[in-house]
Amino acid sequence: MKCVFSGVKPTGIITLGNYLGAIKRFVDVQDQAEQNFYSVVDLHALTVAQDPKEMYENTLNIAAVYLAVGLDPRKATLFVQSHVPAHAEASWMLTCLSRMGELNRMTQFKDKGRGSDSAGVGLFTYPVLMAADVLLYQTTHVPVGEDQKQHLELTRDLAERFNRDYGEIFVMPEPLIAEVGARIMGLQNPENKMSKSDDSDANYITLMDTPKEIEKKIKRAVTDSENAIYFDEENKPGVSNLLSIQSVLTGQNMDNIVQSYEGLGYGALKKNLIEITVDHLTPIQQRYQEIRHSEELTNILRHGAEHAEAVAGETLKKIKDALGL
Ligand code: ADP
Ligand code: NA
Repeated sequence: MKCVFSGVKPTGIITLGNYLGAIKRFVDVQDQAEQNFYSVVDLHALTVAQDPKEMYENTLNIAAVYLAVGLDPRKATLFVQSHVPAHAEASWMLTCLSRMGELNRMTQFKDKGRGSDSAGVGLFTYPVLMAADVLLYQTTHVPVGEDQKQHLELTRDLAERFNRDYGEIFVMPEPLIAEVGARIMGLQNPENKMSKSDDSDANYITLMDTPKEIEKKIKRAVTDSENAIYFDEENKPGVSNLLSIQSVLTGQNMDNIVQSYEGLGYGALKKNLIEITVDHLTPIQQRYQEIRHSEELTNILRHGAEHAEAVAGETLKKIKDALGL
């Protein structure tokens, strides 16, 4: 892989879904790519009203998580999106290339904006900003959860349109979507994806949950009345979700995991998963505490922004030249 880019919004909580579907995969691929760019995409968080103090803290929180999970600043450029003005600039140029119809079709806008007159315009246009994020780095691969697939298709459409109308500038990026873990479901409501905007916090585990909280949430996770452990997303969404979480956390394949539970019931599955989750998250939480208030963190972000700006600036110059700006 030539270049990997992805981002996470600084909106408070990081769920196990964000981690397993996206952030953990950043770490898995960082050695396979020639270049890695991981951004805290604060401009995306502005699509809904934010408290400025919290925004600032949350931005550093995500950056600290990037380091705590194992992203290595010698291999990956870590930076805050708003520190690199090229993102907002390129976003406008791509906005003018976008069509109402194609943005209207974005399912996330339909879900969040619900087409009402009071829906924020940023919610409508943010997929274009995401396209700019990706295209500025001549990204070849974008590790994301399944919910971002449609936005990546828009990114490719815009890149193709630009290349056709103004000259071959952009590389076509591909989504990197995991076979297992790309759509972690809610613990209470396994028909829908695990999301931090859920009403009940029993529905999600966060990266910072204590062992007690993890235990309580997994114990209460919705299963079914069959008490037989096998993978069947359609008929056993709750149990299948717990198995998926175990699979991504341990790196074991599903067949082996299912086999290991032969003759056992949901109590055993949950007990085991509690232990696996706690063991996985504890060292991440420890590193997070060490890094979060360090000078190292802000230094890494400063250097990251300098490098990102240099790379993005080259692409921005090409875009401007092509457009006659
Ligand atoms: P959220 O979707 O939680 O509001 P972001 O938009 O910042 O947060 O998403 C960060 C990354 O996490 C994206 O790549 C997204 O696809 C991924 N993601 C979010 N929810 C899930 C989930 N339930 N399962 C797997 N991946 C997810
Ligand atoms: Na998302």
